[in-house]
Amino acid sequence: MDVARIFFHDEIESLKREIEDANFSSYTILTDDNCEKYCQKELINLFSQFGDAQLIVVPAGDKNKNISNLEFIWNQLLNNADRHSLLINLGGGMISDLGGFAASTFKRGISFINVPTSLLAMVDASIGGKTAINFANFKNQIGSFTDAFATFIDLNFLKTLPEKELLSGFSEMLKVAIISNIDLFNLLSANEEFSKKITQDIIKQAINAKLSIVKSDPKELGKRKLLNFGHTIGHAFETYSMQNDASPISHGQAVAIGMICETQIALQLSIISPQEHYILVDVIKNFFPKYSFTINALISLISNMKTDKKNVAGKINFSLPQSVGCGLIDIYPSENIIQKSIEFYHSL
Ligand SMILES: NC(=O)c1ccc[n+]([C@@H]2O[C@H](COP(=O)([O-])OP(=O)(O)OC[C@H]3O[C@@H](n4cnc5c(N)ncnc54)[C@H](O)[C@@H]3O)[C@@H](O)[C@H]2O)c1
Ligand SMILES: [Zn+2]
Repeated sequence: MDVARIFFHDEIESLKREIEDANFSSYTILTDDNCEKYCQKELINLFSQFGDAQLIVVPAGDKNKNISNLEFIWNQLLNNADRHSLLINLGGGMISDLGGFAASTFKRGISFINVPTSLLAMVDASIGGKTAINFANFKNQIGSFTDAFATFIDLNFLKTLPEKELLSGFSEMLKVAIISNIDLFNLLSANEEFSKKITQDIIKQAINAKLSIVKSDPKELGKRKLLNFGHTIGHAFETYSMQNDASPISHGQAVAIGMICETQIALQLSIISPQEHYILVDVIKNFFPKYSFTINALISLISNMKTDKKNVAGKINFSLPQSVGCGLIDIYPSENIIQKSIEFYHSL
């Protein structure tokens, strides 16, 4: 498994050469309607060979990472692509997940490149070899482990990304720091506007932190589960918000809520000290606005968690912080403890 074929803006010439050398039979660009508007022209400026590519555009938004768009993409690919074609996923994590899965299944698998245009996709979704669609109202239920041919990261794409989405990506940077890298955590939590921390150097550090975990456990049989910190409760909030809010919270905002609740679970289980619990909750709370919900949501939230892929024999699985920069996997708290952690967030 080759999870690390990442090219930054200054390495574009070697990526272009690799694309030429691979002799793909055709190019197709998959994007969403925002990225078509803000990023497609820039992509063609950077990679002139994609000028004649077939273009597939799906509507933006995570609810569109679904089976009907997957079918739409397969149908479009039938017009132009064969087994030696290249799919270029231009967009955020919704596009790299959807396009990666479409490519990994079309004619038993064609090559694809991720060109992440959101911070979240740069530091997380477009690297590490996971693809997925949402199914039956639940997140990421169907997918594959398939590596991209390459990922191309150019911070210029972030210029048009809304601030809310930038913050969403910052959440995943914070997550990987909390469970694996205290130095990165110290950089990210320093008292300064979060947007000042979005530099190529810090993005590289976050990517390397993720890749060092992924390389040691590509198929998520053990250590990679650490990256799920914040996601058990986070996905439940993301699904809840998608079903109940006119303007649903971002993935990263949901993960931030999840990280606060799950750190509190670690405290209840005496996995983390009260001091470190305080530091983590304080830092996360300062970056992310409070999400308001009625406490009646608890039933749906717990029921959402029961469909989580990580569960074993019906028990809800958690990855929790043990201290700043270090985490534990495969913890199964009782429903009562999970509920208390959500009440704790609600009371903040
Ligand atoms: N496969 C993985 O390992 C992995 C890891 C983390 C997250 N994910 C998935 O990634 C998705 C979240 O990714 P995301 O936060 O990038 O969401 P997204 O792709 O939905 O993008 C968020 C919004 O930003 C817009 N956008 C993206 N780039 C833009 C740009 N440069 N200018 C203007 N608008 C832009 C999009 O159109 C969308 O409206 C979720 O589906 C999540 O499950 C996957
Ligand atoms: Zn995530």
